[in-house]
Amino acid sequence: MTDVFGLSHKDTSPASGQAKHEQVIFCSDERSGLHAIIAIYNTALGPSLGGTRFYPYENEQAALADVLNLSRAMAYKNALAGLDLGGGKAVIIGDPATGKSEALLRAYGRFVQSLGGRYFTACDVGTYSEDMDIVARESSYVTGRTVANGGAGDSSILTAYGVFQGMRAAAEHTYGASSLRGRRVGVEGVGKVGHRLIDHLVEDGAEVVLCDVSEQAVERVRRRHPQVEVVADRLELTGADIDVYAPCALGGALDDDTVARLRATIVCGGANNQLAHPGVEKELADRGILYAPDYVVNSGGVIQVADEIHGFNMDRARAKATQIYDTTLKIFAAAAEDGVPPAVAADRLAERRMSEVGRIRGIWLGH
Ligand SMILES: NC(=O)c1ccc[n+]([C@@H]2O[C@H](COP(=O)([O-])OP(=O)(O)OC[C@H]3O[C@@H](n4cnc5c(N)ncnc54)[C@H](O)[C@@H]3O)[C@@H](O)[C@H]2O)c1
Repeated sequence: MTDVFGLSHKDTSPASGQAKHEQVIFCSDERSGLHAIIAIYNTALGPSLGGTRFYPYENEQAALADVLNLSRAMAYKNALAGLDLGGGKAVIIGDPATGKSEALLRAYGRFVQSLGGRYFTACDVGTYSEDMDIVARESSYVTGRTVANGGAGDSSILTAYGVFQGMRAAAEHTYGASSLRGRRVGVEGVGKVGHRLIDHLVEDGAEVVLCDVSEQAVERVRRRHPQVEVVADRLELTGADIDVYAPCALGGALDDDTVARLRATIVCGGANNQLAHPGVEKELADRGILYAPDYVVNSGGVIQVADEIHGFNMDRARAKATQIYDTTLKIFAAAAEDGVPPAVAADRLAERRMSEVGRIRGIWLGH
């Protein structure tokens, strides 16, 4: 007999990421070559939302580890972005350059649809708005479609805008003024997010130093803003006399060496997973460097695509992304009050919202 008053199983191992996820779905369609995993970390605040990464993982285990981490991160990002959305993510295993086809994307769309709205998808590494248009032919739970199809389009617009809001908050906290006027900002990576961030910085009167491995990307910025200074690489950028370091390329920018070398007093950029390993947030704090947590300041992109669920409106989405300024200030204040690094304070605030707002769903609605 089932003991209805019995305790449910509790996961005691913090390392076992999978045990904490609500649902993990393996999807396969042999003919089109679809091999995907959708992970829903939680739906405490609403349906889960997160992009689809199309990537040639070495094996299924590597893909699973990635999607479990990414879906968890989305839950935290969506919670602090003030969205009524939980955390989810998907990975398609394969090379997007050779493996992508209409049949594969539509097969994937049917799996997304089969979840009945528990998971909304969007673009990520290896997938584009045009791909989401195709997925949306099989599913109503798709965001990040092209503007022509009623979508939010390129999410880097509000990602860059949100990073700029986070940087203004960091400047306010550090210098007592939210303007970046006269500050030197080092931007690493001037792709979709980085080059738009530079537009905001130049408009605000900041001096910009940048680096990128792509000469083409550098030239695009130089044409728009001939006054920017270009340096060779991260080593030179982080050793330069800058006030703010903005990692906008790949993850893991903040490792022990970089933190030790850094001359900036603020780190605030668009890249995901900037901290190379746990403990770096403390190294930054110990050196007196203010770190604006990546998933908080780069949430403008998810705010932009989430708005599509209600029929996309750029003004409304931009107004919501403007709130990243207040949220970032709130995190700095909570960090100071609790005596912890901002990254820890951000996690705590996200967990609190998921728990407090998620709990009210237990109120019986009476129908
Ligand atoms: N696009 C979005 O809406 C969005 C949203 C949230 C987070 N992010 C994150 O922001 C970061 C940038 O995204 P993006 O959309 O601009 O990508 P992107 O590919 O358009 O730009 C990345 C740029 O970084 C450069 N780069 C790569 N390695 C480098 C290195 N070692 N040193 C210097 N430059 C290097 C590339 O040449 C490229 O110009 C990623 O970490 C991404 O996950 C993006």
